[in-house]
Amino acid sequence: MATDQARVTMEEITALAKRRGFIFQSSEIYGGIGGFFDYGPLGAVLKRNVKEAWWRETVELRDDVVAFDSSIVMHPSTWIASGHVAAFHDKMIDCRNCKHRFRADHLKSVDKCPDCGMTGTLTEPRNFNLMMQTFVGPMEDSASQTYLRPETAQGIFVNFKNVYQSARKKPPFGIAQIGKSFRNEITPGNLTFRVREFEQAELEYFVPDDGGDMACFEMWVNARKKWYSDYGVNADRLRFYELTPDERPHYAKAGIDVEYLFPWGWGELESIAHRGTYDLDAHMKLSGKDLQFFDEATKTKYTPILIESSAGMDRTALTMLIDAYDVETIVENGKETKRIVLRFHPKIAPVQVAIFPLARNKPELVERARALEMELRPHFRTQYDEGNVGQLYRRQDEIGTPFCLMFDYDSLDDHKITVRDRDSMQQQRVAFDSLRGYVAERL
Ligand code: GAP
Repeated sequence: MATDQARVTMEEITALAKRRGFIFQSSEIYGGIGGFFDYGPLGAVLKRNVKEAWWRETVELRDDVVAFDSSIVMHPSTWIASGHVAAFHDKMIDCRNCKHRFRADHLKSVDKCPDCGMTGTLTEPRNFNLMMQTFVGPMEDSASQTYLRPETAQGIFVNFKNVYQSARKKPPFGIAQIGKSFRNEITPGNLTFRVREFEQAELEYFVPDDGGDMACFEMWVNARKKWYSDYGVNADRLRFYELTPDERPHYAKAGIDVEYLFPWGWGELESIAHRGTYDLDAHMKLSGKDLQFFDEATKTKYTPILIESSAGMDRTALTMLIDAYDVETIVENGKETKRIVLRFHPKIAPVQVAIFPLARNKPELVERARALEMELRPHFRTQYDEGNVGQLYRRQDEIGTPFCLMFDYDSLDDHKITVRDRDSMQQQRVAFDSLRGYVAERL
């Protein structure tokens, strides 16, 4: 399997994520809890930027998609109708010797344990339902038992009628939401790639049954291709894998997995699926409620076809981090040294402009640099910092800040500041009054 290991390892990404405050193990002081992570000051902004980029292009810049936000805990019948209670399983195998647990489809051999190396110690595969159970109200009995949603989509399906009637929408139109989902993964791993609590950005696009469904499917595949390209994901490390009829559910007419070349190989970021009328049909059948669309103009009723794009926001944020990672050899003070730089797209970068004084013990420089940072703050994601200049640049490179501004003694007289470009490391003197325009144009 092709991997991106030569460029960067997961150990390097994990170390940088912790060192610079992108991603921490959840409840680390208690030894952590498998499959749960916290986003530090920069990671929280990174993930928010990814979500905002998705929201902007999928909802705000379109007139055929409306916003939605459903609850995490839903009526348990939802998960019976959706098929999750009966079939949302992974096959699990335990090693009787080392007690380690594996997903059956991740094992190369069912004879030998990949961890302790013993043969004949692996159990038969057993079904394991991935939904996390919870109880609603004070009684912990079967009547109060339900689940934390394993996908956000079902909240949209069960509300289809409420939404189209209140928003006065007619297919083709979409409903989008971003929210937390939970899956009790057997083997979480690879930092935030496979976790038990994650965020999904899901678009459910309802299409009339008039033969235009595959054109809508293609429209969304192209929209998603454009999104990854616009936000700077390297095209050589991204592929749109077309599922064969055997690989997709029986009701799906088409399916594409968006995959990224991670250090361990190709991994799924998003699934785009033509789901027919399966989901609305299933909820109509179990609830006995009508979720068909009634077209006032033609006085006809039909069940719309569904095109779904479902992207993992944690996986996408991790992709942005890995994709941006670069190490280059530079010459500093006559010596060769390594520079780690995150080449984030400017809209994704947690900090866009960093501002420093040349010396932290010179009040006239400190005050002016601070004032400048405050002036730019409403327009860009800024950060003021002070200290050793070389270390400041190194830190900003490692967090992917596109521009660093250095306020020095000359700035006091010529009203110009040194602007350093992250990627080229070129420096330019820019006048204070054209600074905002200069940075905005380049971001
Ligand atoms: N409603 C369709 C659906 O949920 P999915 O392929 O199961 O489809 C969609 O999930 C996306 O959600 C995946 O492509 C992935 O990015 C993200 N995702 C799923 N399970 C995940 C997990 N355990 N950890 C992180 N992200 C996950």
